[in-house]
Amino acid sequence: MNCWKSLKGKVKFREPLKRHTTFKVGGKAEVFIEPRDKDDLKSALRLAKEHGLAVFILGRGSNILAADKGIKGAVLKLSAPFFKRTTFKNNRLYAGSGALLAGIISSCLKRGLSGTEFLSGIPGTLGGALAMNAGTAGRDIGSLVRKVEVMDYRGNTRSLGSKEIKFAYRKSSLAPGIILGAELQLKKEKPAGIRKRINDCLKRRRLTQDLSWPSAGCVFKNPRGDFAGRLIDACGLKGRRSGGARVSLRHANFIINTGNARATDILKLIEGIKKEVHSRFGVVLEPEIKIW
Ligand code: FAD
Ligand code: EPU
Repeated sequence: MNCWKSLKGKVKFREPLKRHTTFKVGGKAEVFIEPRDKDDLKSALRLAKEHGLAVFILGRGSNILAADKGIKGAVLKLSAPFFKRTTFKNNRLYAGSGALLAGIISSCLKRGLSGTEFLSGIPGTLGGALAMNAGTAGRDIGSLVRKVEVMDYRGNTRSLGSKEIKFAYRKSSLAPGIILGAELQLKKEKPAGIRKRINDCLKRRRLTQDLSWPSAGCVFKNPRGDFAGRLIDACGLKGRRSGGARVSLRHANFIINTGNARATDILKLIEGIKKEVHSRFGVVLEPEIKIW
């Protein structure tokens, strides 16, 4: 345990992951590290390797279902101020991967820079959004990217131009690496128009999604040409329960934690939903959430 003291950032042992996921579910991470900066991250990766620990990268935990038994390994969260820096130059934003999307969107609005509005209401970090290629209504964050700085698990960093990265629906080729930050291309625009699009996006979300209970947003990806929510709803699964977990009554692709849900409760619902949707429609639903 002493060797972890050489790190400059915060290190915790047996840290409950339910504190770090929007599902509010998840057992303990053997080691939980918030590196102070890039060099510290490199040292953390080296130490994890020396101890034979698998490494897991955590953003805001808004698309992760962490196992009840916890994680045998090192969970790294890039939440120190170094990883949250944002700077603007020539209608471009450089932000660290730990910066929250909500903060990025409001900084862009203040500067009269448009482009990020469609991300409003996604409760994640820039790093998580890039790894997942997060988006709404046919647009995704990949479309804004000029460059992404990544680190591999040996601690080597690289800057990738947009042409070197593949973005597709809810996935990106960046995912195996550690995203350190990115440069996004924005456009000058009067704040009123930007503000309106942000408000419209948030309003639509409040009308259609279940935002009153802990969740990870949509659990499944939409199958090509259809909607997971529609299929689950058509199977009559809204309201189905397993322990403290429930299929939302408002949006069938949301599973909510109504209090004290365990990961196993959520997994049971996921399996039940997959089975019913497959038997009724012949469609195999693929989870969007990352199951740890
Ligand atoms: P996490 O959940 O922490 O991680 C997700 C994945 O990214 C993991 O595999 C993790 O290892 C990886 N990752 C995180 N950070 C890094 C990094 N720095 N480097 C490499 N890998 C990394 N998603 C949408 O796309 N559109 C929506 O409209 C949307 N709405 C949502 C609404 C609600 C209420 C909730 C709870 C979730 C919603 N989501 C939505 C899902 C989620 O918010 C997004 O996928 C978000 O981008 C995840 O970011 P995060 O920081 O929470 O990542
Ligand atoms: N629908 C139902 N019943 C439901 C839910 C939806 O019939 O319970 C129908 C709706 O009536 C609509 C269709 O399904 O005709 C699509 O629903 P919605 O407009 O709510 O969008 P979605 O496809 O379910 C997607 C993303 C969301 C994103 C919204 C807004 C996926 C899996 N989900 O939802 O992203 O916020 O569009 O653009 O792509 C997420 O990824 O976590 C997420 C929340």
